[in-house]
Amino acid sequence: MSGDPTPADASRPVPASIDARRAPVLTLDGPTASGKGTIAQRVARSLGWHYLDSGALYRLTALAALRAGVSLDDPERLAQVAATLPVGFEADGRIRLGGEDVTDAIRDEAVGNGASRLAVHAGVRAALLGLQRGFRRPPGLVADGRDMGTVVFPDASLKVFLTASAASRADRRHKQLIEKGISAKLPGLLQDLRERDARDASRSVAPLAPAEGAYVLDSTSLTVDETVAKVLDRWSAQG
Ligand code: CDP
Repeated sequence: MSGDPTPADASRPVPASIDARRAPVLTLDGPTASGKGTIAQRVARSLGWHYLDSGALYRLTALAALRAGVSLDDPERLAQVAATLPVGFEADGRIRLGGEDVTDAIRDEAVGNGASRLAVHAGVRAALLGLQRGFRRPPGLVADGRDMGTVVFPDASLKVFLTASAASRADRRHKQLIEKGISAKLPGLLQDLRERDARDASRSVAPLAPAEGAYVLDSTSLTVDETVAKVLDRWSAQG
């Protein structure tokens, strides 16, 4: 497909045909609020590729667990929740959990925090692995997350590690929330972001780190357009 990549385009994992397994993948990993989602969607759109927001799967797991009263410290039950997620990505980009539209609910800071906490469990990560790999299909996939280049798609054609200073990431997250009409205080956001960074980087399974050979891109002083252009330039330069 070459039209309009949305999460929905890659929403229903297909049996891994040889074609699907050979489809090129561009991974975009990085810390919280580094702008991965925005950049990845823009890059996918430019290339006419599919898009996977892997963080949404962790957020969906957190929301489902919170609703079912499953403790975020209960690895076995959390893995079960992840393995049986009744998830649906709609053609218009909306995300459903068991038929309910949870597109906005999974963006809640409490859900993001829960996702960060349950993402440390190996069983949860293993349960989501096949689901994520099922999104790979021609003509290509842009996948964003923490371990797309290191664990999920180690054979990706281009691996980007997107960073930005903690202060500018907190600032971006703050603006994002305010635009959505959600009140938030900068100092609290900065502290939360540092805690998430520490948890992502220090966990024993799939810790956040640039993949070997990754293109490390610091977007602290770049606009979204400039960042997208740099990723696309790198992709074209590779031929
Ligand atoms: O908005 P933010 O970047 O914080 O979150 P996200 O990309 O939506 O992911 C939510 C949480 O899931 C993150 O805090 C990570 O801890 C976790 N995650 C992960 O461990 N591995 C991924 N591939 C994607 C997300």
